[in-house]
Amino acid sequence: MVDTTLGLVWQRLATRRPVVVAHRGDSGAQPENTLTAFAAAIDAGAQVIEFDVHASADGIPVCIHDETLDRTTDAATVLGRAGIEVAHAALADLAKLDAGRWMGVEHAGVGLPTLQAALDLMLPRVIPMIEHKGGAAEVLVELLQRLGVVEAVLVQSFDWNFVRRVHSLEPRMMLGVLGEGRLDAESLARIPLTGASLVHWHVHDLRAEDIDELRRRGLLVCVYTANSDVELAGAAALGADAITTNHPARLGALVERGIARPA
Ligand code: G3P
Ligand code: CA
Repeated sequence: MVDTTLGLVWQRLATRRPVVVAHRGDSGAQPENTLTAFAAAIDAGAQVIEFDVHASADGIPVCIHDETLDRTTDAATVLGRAGIEVAHAALADLAKLDAGRWMGVEHAGVGLPTLQAALDLMLPRVIPMIEHKGGAAEVLVELLQRLGVVEAVLVQSFDWNFVRRVHSLEPRMMLGVLGEGRLDAESLARIPLTGASLVHWHVHDLRAEDIDELRRRGLLVCVYTANSDVELAGAAALGADAITTNHPARLGALVERGIARPA
């Protein structure tokens, strides 16, 4: 059930039009999970920015998708070894990395941001959708409480026990459960136990009747990751409250052209 302050904001935003969620920022055009991608997503008109968070070895939440540093940074060169996990790197070392060069030389010089820097950039202009990939619930909740933003952000995870733990630590926080594959009766029964008010499911796996059922249960429905015009328009027509995309400007343009959620 939607019973958090931010959940009500989402509900209002999604009344007729699907909410535009920029996946890893404007990641179709800029290096994912960087301040550059987040700023570009805001410029593109995204209402929500989805991004991934791991904790460094010294317990600082940082924005990066993978467990290891190699795909999106130059860690192998700068730190002298491939295969280093984010959780085994200190923030001082992460701060030396280039998180843009992998995408093209024109993106060189972009750093790997901390969660705090990302939130400083986003709030209050867009809603941060923080995907937990690694790190303890206590560390994340303590930081968000210290920053005074627990009612301004959404936290989500594929690890539903993590979501449940966050809910027990901070019931004011809007939460999402991520999933893929068939949305079966067991999953439907587990959702209320997590405290989540948003279900974020793989766009290829969610059927029209699943969306109807989730909405009947008072849950917000978001789908990931829709990128083509057909996927984006289809998700809107089936009633998704929000759509996660690598191309927020493309979705925004379709919304302007009139793709809408059913009344
Ligand atoms: O939040 C939806 C989506 O980002 C989940 O998958 O692998 O892109 O983090 P992934
Ligand atoms: Ca993600």
